[in-house]
Amino acid sequence: MQTVQYYQEQFIAYLEEFTKQREPENLYNPVNYILKLGGKRLRPVLTLMAAEVFNCEYQKALDAALSVEVFHNFSLVHDDIMDDAPLRRGQETVHEKWDINTGILSGDAMLILAYQLFENYEATTFQALAKLFSKTALEVCEGQQYDIDFETRDDVTIPEYLKMIEYKTAVLVGAAMQMGAIVAQSSKEDQEGIYAFGKNLGIAFQLQDDYLDAFGDPKTFGKQVGGDIIENKKTFLYLKTLEFSNANDKLQLQHLFSINPTDAKDKIETVKQLFESSGASEATKQEIKKYTEKAFSVLEHLNISNENKAILKAFGKQLMNRNV
Ligand code: IPE
Ligand code: IPE
Ligand code: MG
Ligand code: MG
Ligand code: MG
Repeated sequence: MQTVQYYQEQFIAYLEEFTKQREPENLYNPVNYILKLGGKRLRPVLTLMAAEVFNCEYQKALDAALSVEVFHNFSLVHDDIMDDAPLRRGQETVHEKWDINTGILSGDAMLILAYQLFENYEATTFQALAKLFSKTALEVCEGQQYDIDFETRDDVTIPEYLKMIEYKTAVLVGAAMQMGAIVAQSSKEDQEGIYAFGKNLGIAFQLQDDYLDAFGDPKTFGKQVGGDIIENKKTFLYLKTLEFSNANDKLQLQHLFSINPTDAKDKIETVKQLFESSGASEATKQEIKKYTEKAFSVLEHLNISNENKAILKAFGKQLMNRNV
């Protein structure tokens, strides 16, 4: 197994080949724009690492890794429309740079391109990848719908929130790893194990994303800080603040999450203060830790070398401490 950075570099070189100029430009330029905008390349790296963990050369998993990253970027283009987000990776979002219709159609094309990449595998591998992909992609849609539904609900529970982030985010992280295991033709048991590791890491990852959305540094975060507060997203931070607050603070927070002021500066400041003073921000950090540890305990039971376990664990720890 190589370093995370090595897999990242190999993946980016492969992506370079994929993002060639194509016509019509108004369909493909936004596709290439978002794919080349950068990002952590977390999911494709996990696909390549999973393949190598199960004794398969990472090169064989490059198309699966690319498929996962193209799908992820498709979901971001549509997510940014749905969340009315102006910034992505420090640059304009696709629908801001072009327009909403362009974002919709370029996103659609990316979803097809992601699926098409499986054609590079022989029949049994193709079928297994396609099956996992379809199940996962549908779950992502379900998670995204819950996320939107929750914006206008005031009775969302923590279990509902956890299910929502499992679907919108964590299943794709799990699937990214299982795809590496599928390409490596590993056993069903190993596939399920690595999926569970990825899924728990993915839950921690989304909790951290929600935390950074409120408390990240605008200079490094690359997205609009406070975007979830503006959109009245029922995050773990929000739900825990309600749980920990006295009646007054609770009413104030509920009121703030029922309005959409044009200038949201004061709303963001007040909400962040409530997140902090209630202890919810600390509880979120603990929850991130809890799911990361859960992922590590799944890892313990996998049939892989201790050296590889240590590499995957180090990667998980790095993710937990990220600021992007
Ligand atoms: C953003 O994913 C969407 C979430 C599921 C939180 P990433 O944080 O992996 O985004 P990039 O690809 O690194 O920009
Ligand atoms: C994104 O969740 C999940 C998917 C794109 C499927 P968020 O809406 O929190 O992601 P960011 O914060 O915009 O990256
Ligand atoms: Mg979003
Ligand atoms: Mg969203
Ligand atoms: Mg977010």
